[in-house]
Amino acid sequence: MRHIISIGDFDRKEIDHLLDHAGQIDKRKYDENALRGKILAVLFFEPSTRTRMSFESAMARLGGTSVSVGSVEACSIAKGETLADTVRVVSGYADAIVIRHPKEGAARLAAEFATVPVINAGDGAGQHPSQTLLDLYTIRESMPIDGIDIALVGDLRYGRTAHSLAFALSLYNARLHTISPKGLELPVNLAAGLKERGMEIIEHDDISEVIDAVDVLYVTRIQRERFPDSASYFNVSSNYRITPELLTRAKKHLIVLHPLPRLDEIDPRVDKSSHARYFEQSGNGVPVRMAMLMQVLQ
Ligand code: NCD
Repeated sequence: MRHIISIGDFDRKEIDHLLDHAGQIDKRKYDENALRGKILAVLFFEPSTRTRMSFESAMARLGGTSVSVGSVEACSIAKGETLADTVRVVSGYADAIVIRHPKEGAARLAAEFATVPVINAGDGAGQHPSQTLLDLYTIRESMPIDGIDIALVGDLRYGRTAHSLAFALSLYNARLHTISPKGLELPVNLAAGLKERGMEIIEHDDISEVIDAVDVLYVTRIQRERFPDSASYFNVSSNYRITPELLTRAKKHLIVLHPLPRLDEIDPRVDKSSHARYFEQSGNGVPVRMAMLMQVLQ
């Protein structure tokens, strides 16, 4: 039984293989009945549009079915049931579980109690491996990932997509440029681990310092829901904004990615620019998650 909890569960060869498979799926080369009769339990204890809907459409495209509870309030978690018990019970109703939870480590805990494979769809400020796979897939559509210069912009402390992506990029000899508000830098232990793996990480105060040097700009939302108080949120918001004016200095092939939802980090005028790839990126969630579901369910 194979769980997908952290991007660190994959080695480079496995990631490349999965992305190749997603590429085949993108070309409509897949069996529409591959997961006929299989059921995916969707346990989302945090808001989601893209991750949840793309897992559900991935399942449907492969002939499978998804089941879910409407919300936390609508299930027995609201009565005080533990996550461990919920997961044990749900294992009896489905062939795999995809879980999103506000607490870091929740997906790992779920995997300990589940008797079916568990996929982590985001655990607090921890990891978001399926997002990383679609991020890598999107980069690969524009350029080879090996050796890229990538700037991670925004909330690198609480942003789980940035954590997983940074880790994965250490397998591709990428050079990481980080630009974040004070106090929202990449967690020290994560940065230390990446450096130990040979990754070069360069901190910058301003995006304009690196805009002409990077191949990928990965922009993230300030994770307001993870802030201890609203005052500290207001101190950091709205400082890190991508505009068409800023992009005039970018390399021609630079791509702008964002896991979405965006608030005001990317000026809507950027949407029309040849650099913008964030909507394609979210669309790539379906083929990538189809490949993931086939891996755990077949
Ligand atoms: C991200 C998440 O949930 O971590 N969203 C997503 O899955 N595409 C990013 C975010 O919420 O800012």
